[in-house]
Amino acid sequence: MTHPFVDDLLNRMTLDEKIGQMTQPEKNSVRPGDVARLGLGSVLSGGGGNPDPNTPQAWRDMVTALIDEAQASRLKIPLLYGSDAVHGHNNVVGATIFPHNIGLGAAADPDLVRRIGRATALEAAATNVRWAFAPAVSVPQDFRWGRSYEGYAQDPALVGRLAAALVEGLKGEGWNSPTAVLPSVKHFVADGATDWGSGKRARMTDPDQDRTLAIAQMGEDFVTLLDRGAWQIDQGDATIDEATLRAVHLPPYRAALEAGALNVMVSYSSWQGLKLHAHRYLITDVLKGELGFAGFVVSDWEGVQQVAADFDEAVRTSINAGVDMVMVPFDYERFIASLRRAVQAGEVPQARIDDAARRILSVKHTLGLFERPHTDPTLDVVGCAAHRALAREAAARSAVLLKDCGVFPLGGAPLLVAGEAADDIGLQCGGWTVSWMGAPGPTTPGTTLLAGLRGRGLDVTFDPDARAETRFPTGLVVLAEDPYAEGMGDRAQLTLTSAQRDLIARVQARCDRMGVVLYAGRPLIVTDDLPGWDAFVAAWLPGSEAGGLADVLTGARPFTGRLPFDWPRTLTDLPRRPGAQTLFPAGTGLTAAPTTAPIPAAQAASQP
Ligand code: GLC
Repeated sequence: MTHPFVDDLLNRMTLDEKIGQMTQPEKNSVRPGDVARLGLGSVLSGGGGNPDPNTPQAWRDMVTALIDEAQASRLKIPLLYGSDAVHGHNNVVGATIFPHNIGLGAAADPDLVRRIGRATALEAAATNVRWAFAPAVSVPQDFRWGRSYEGYAQDPALVGRLAAALVEGLKGEGWNSPTAVLPSVKHFVADGATDWGSGKRARMTDPDQDRTLAIAQMGEDFVTLLDRGAWQIDQGDATIDEATLRAVHLPPYRAALEAGALNVMVSYSSWQGLKLHAHRYLITDVLKGELGFAGFVVSDWEGVQQVAADFDEAVRTSINAGVDMVMVPFDYERFIASLRRAVQAGEVPQARIDDAARRILSVKHTLGLFERPHTDPTLDVVGCAAHRALAREAAARSAVLLKDCGVFPLGGAPLLVAGEAADDIGLQCGGWTVSWMGAPGPTTPGTTLLAGLRGRGLDVTFDPDARAETRFPTGLVVLAEDPYAEGMGDRAQLTLTSAQRDLIARVQARCDRMGVVLYAGRPLIVTDDLPGWDAFVAAWLPGSEAGGLADVLTGARPFTGRLPFDWPRTLTDLPRRPGAQTLFPAGTGLTAAPTTAPIPAAQAASQP
C-alpha cells in the first residue's frame, strides 16, 4: 500500500522519526511533551487505562490532548489512539456494554455484529479513540483458557463471518469517515490452541515480579488464582501441526482482511515452541506475503520483551520478524534507543524500518487523520438509548435455552429470584469492563436481570442467598463466574462452586420448579448438576442490558440462541477433539414461542 503523500513524507523523516511512529506507550507512562519530542505514533489505554474521573468527556479530553500534542511535532504526523473497545467502548463508564464474543457467536448473526461494530465505533470515535483492539478471532480449543469468551465460535467460517462484520461495522461508510475506527484482528495466530500447562506466567509466586500484574493490583487473590490454574494455558505453546493451524486458525484472518482490516495484533503465545512475536514465517511470509496484508502489525502489551531475556535481542528479533509497531508500553525511550542501535549496527535493515513506517503512515492516511487529527463527534451517542436497545436485543439473542421442563416463560405467579448475579451489572458484563479484570457491583450504568424482570411486571421476590422459608411455585437462580481477563481466568476446574450448589439446593427446597441462568465466559461442567434443574439458560456475559434476558425468560422474545461450541461433558473432554464427549453439541438451543407481542426495540430501551 503506497501513496505519493506517504512516500514524500517518508523521504523527509529522520530515522528517529520513523522509529517514533513504531512506538506505542501506554497513557500512564508517556511523559508530557514526549509525544511531540519523540514523534510517537500512538498511545494506548490498556485495560483500565482510564482518566479520572472516568467519564466520556474526560476520555475525550485525555485523548485529544495527546492528539494535539502530536501536532506540535516537526512533521505534525497525527497520533492514533488505541483502546480495548472489545464489547462496546467498555473502559468508559457510561458506555454501552455489549455481550462478549461467545454470546454473539450464540446469536450467530453478522448483521447484529455489524450494527454492534457501528455503535461501538460511534462511542469510541466520540472520545477521539480511532483504534479498537478488536475483534479477537481466537478459536478456543480448551475452555480452561481465561480468554475463551473472546472467541465467537468453534466453526472458523462463522468466526470469519462475524469478524468481517465487526470490521465492516467499525469502518462504517469508509475508513476516512469521522467515525471510522480501525479494528485490530487478534491475536495472530492460534492463540486459542495452546496446551494446558504451557503458560509461562504460572511459574510466578509474586505479582510484583511482573510489572503489568503488579500495576493491576491483583492483591491476595493472585496466589489463590495461581493455585486454581491462573496463567497455566494463556500465552502458552500451541503444538498443533501446520495443517491444523491453516485449517482452523488462519481462515478468520483471511475473512477479516477481505473485509478490509488494516491492523493485526500478534499473539503472546508460541507455535511449536517459537514465540509468535519472533515468528518471521507466520508474520512476514504468511500474513504479509501469502495473505497480502498491507496494513501494519502491532505487538501485544510487552509481547516483544517475552521474545528473549536480552531486551536488544528481543527488539531486533521481533522487528525483523515483521512487527511494525511495538506496544512497549512502559520503557518507550529504551525501545527507541535499542532499535536505533540495531539499525545503526546493521542488525535491522533500514528497509524494514521504512516498510514499518510506511505501513503505519499509510493506515493513518487512509483514516484521514492527516486532514483531521481528531473529529470530535457528539458525545451524546455514548450509552445512548438506541445503542442500549441494540445491546438488549443482542443479550436476548445470545441466550441459549438448554433445558425447560415447564419453567419458561416466566409469568404471573410469584417468582423467587436468588443469586447476587441477578442484580449485579459487573457480573453480567465480565472482564474488560471499566477495569482490565472487570469487577462485581454497579461498575457502569445498565439494566440487571432483576430490574428487567420487574420491568416486565413480574411479582419478584429477590432473596440473593435464599435463606428465607417462604415457598414459591417457581424459583430462578442466577449464577456467575467471578469476572476475569486473560490468564487470570485460566482454571484447572470448571465445575460450580460448593456455595453455588448450596444456593441451588436451598431454592430447590422451597420451590415447585427451579431454573438456572448462568453468566459465564465459557461452558462449565454441569453434567452432574443438570438433572436436578427444571430449566437451564446459558446467558454467557450479556453486557449492560440484561433486560434482554428478561425478554426471553418472559416470552416477550423467543429464545433463538444456539451453542457456538460443543458443551463438554467432563473436563477430560478438553481440549475439544474428535471423540470427546459433549453434554450438548454445538448448534443446540431450544426455542420457546413468544407468549406476548414482541416489543419494539426503542420501547425496550425505555424499560427500567
Ligand atoms: C493485552 C491483551 C490484548 C490487549 C492489549 C492492550 O495484554 O492481550 O488483547 O488488546 O493487551 O490492552
